[in-house]
Amino acid sequence: AGSCPGDYRMSRLIVISNRVSVPKAAGAAGAQGGLAVALNSALREHRGIWFGWSGQETQEFTGHLDMQRNDDVTTATIDLEPQDIDEYYNGYANRTLWPLFHFRIDLTEYNRDFGEGYERVNRRFADSVHPLIEPDDLVWVHDYHLLPLGSMLRAKGVNNRMGLFLHTPWPPTRLLVSLPFHEKLVTSMLEYDVIGFQTTEWLESFLHYVQKELGLKVNLDNSISYQGRRVVARAFPIGIDHAEFTEAAASEEAQEAHDRLKSSVRGRKLLIGVDRLDYSKGLGERFQSFGRFLTDHPAEAGAVVLLQIAPPSRGDVASYQQIREDLERKTGHINGAHADVAFVPIRYVNRGYPRAQLAGFYRAANIGLVTPLRDGMNLVAKEFVAAQDPEDPGVLILSQFAGAALQLTDALLVNPHSVEHVSEAIRRALDMPLAERQRRHAKLLASVRDFDVIHWRNAFVSALEGKGNNGGRNAEE
Ligand code: ADP
Ligand code: G6P
Repeated sequence: AGSCPGDYRMSRLIVISNRVSVPKAAGAAGAQGGLAVALNSALREHRGIWFGWSGQETQEFTGHLDMQRNDDVTTATIDLEPQDIDEYYNGYANRTLWPLFHFRIDLTEYNRDFGEGYERVNRRFADSVHPLIEPDDLVWVHDYHLLPLGSMLRAKGVNNRMGLFLHTPWPPTRLLVSLPFHEKLVTSMLEYDVIGFQTTEWLESFLHYVQKELGLKVNLDNSISYQGRRVVARAFPIGIDHAEFTEAAASEEAQEAHDRLKSSVRGRKLLIGVDRLDYSKGLGERFQSFGRFLTDHPAEAGAVVLLQIAPPSRGDVASYQQIREDLERKTGHINGAHADVAFVPIRYVNRGYPRAQLAGFYRAANIGLVTPLRDGMNLVAKEFVAAQDPEDPGVLILSQFAGAALQLTDALLVNPHSVEHVSEAIRRALDMPLAERQRRHAKLLASVRDFDVIHWRNAFVSALEGKGNNGGRNAEE
């Protein structure tokens, strides 16, 4: 990691993502979600523009750009019509692509209006951002909401270097082919110069698709030959802003949050989960695993507490309403079975917290439970590691199906579908000797620190500039 050398003038970055989320004040509970958190720190060092949806609706789309300067980041946002939000954001992005990309074809809805809304909004993005793009700018598009945006900009004559980074997994070909017009969608992505994924696993799935379904040649260096051009496809595992997070963790606010939580658990062991309320996060399975642990270890009942912080997400989508109801039922069930007059085993909290407080909570925990069923990367796992006291660190229990598992191999890796396996891992973590905790934590911390968000950004931007490698370091080792 490190910033660019002083004599090197960085190209201006145009970052484009669905959501533009600059925290209003330092420490505000603004940005939730890995993308927002990562981009905020990446953009702070680049003089650039962050373009996207304001999150607001307007009765009639005008394309009016709301430009604001915030810290060192200029944001440019547009409002969308209710129909756009319904068909593009709630529809194609979050009822079609998100479940499909998280291997949940059972939740994936295919609806022609969603597809049309997705195209329309991507076109609106292209029309609105086009006048902001100057000849030497690097254009960096993010995530599943905007896969065809690059091709639409090309059609308007944009010849700049353009890259796409996908924050989610890329599904196996066998699942992806269930998406109507999948060839058109993936072919449109080949107009980017660089396509980035979180891990080699998602990259390999993508290359498999490109060969099998599009019949294209993948070169030895994983680039794709397409219409006389070379499209670079590579893994760029995202990290956290380690320096910023460590600073937040050392703040008074973090210490107060830590002390408040610690004293409230009164000497009990604390397990913590922090996730958007999303079915991909495996929260139901996590609660059941914790319930199993309490059932299997009656002596521990009353001696362990699970704090699950889960701010609601995408509440207009039915599958999110269902997971919310399901979790309320499960919490009630497990608490009903194991609570005592002065003790409740699961504390289930549906709200966001400022990052410093979150860091204090992580540090107060003996175990971090990060058990998604499928996750592009998972930054919570990395934040948990960064927030620990190296002298007396907590243990990370991490799903083998999170992208982060390829880097954080010194965590206790679990199959989140197996309540027995997760329950055993909790037992093991509680019994783990201090020396082993320290040894594992030191290795985890080295990975989180070395492959931070600055390393990620520099690697992607170099690739976008057409420079070869990522400094010779392999982040998945
Ligand atoms: P995703 O991108 O799917 O939401 P990640 O784990 O990669 O999952 O990123 C989640 C980010 O959102 C982390 O930076 C985490 O700290 C933040 N976050 C999640 N829940 C909360 C919360 N309750 N309060 C504040 N930040 C949160
Ligand atoms: C994940 C996605 C992001 C998204 C975030 C929050 O991190 O990869 O693109 O912004 O979740 O979801 P939301 O729907 O609230 O933007």
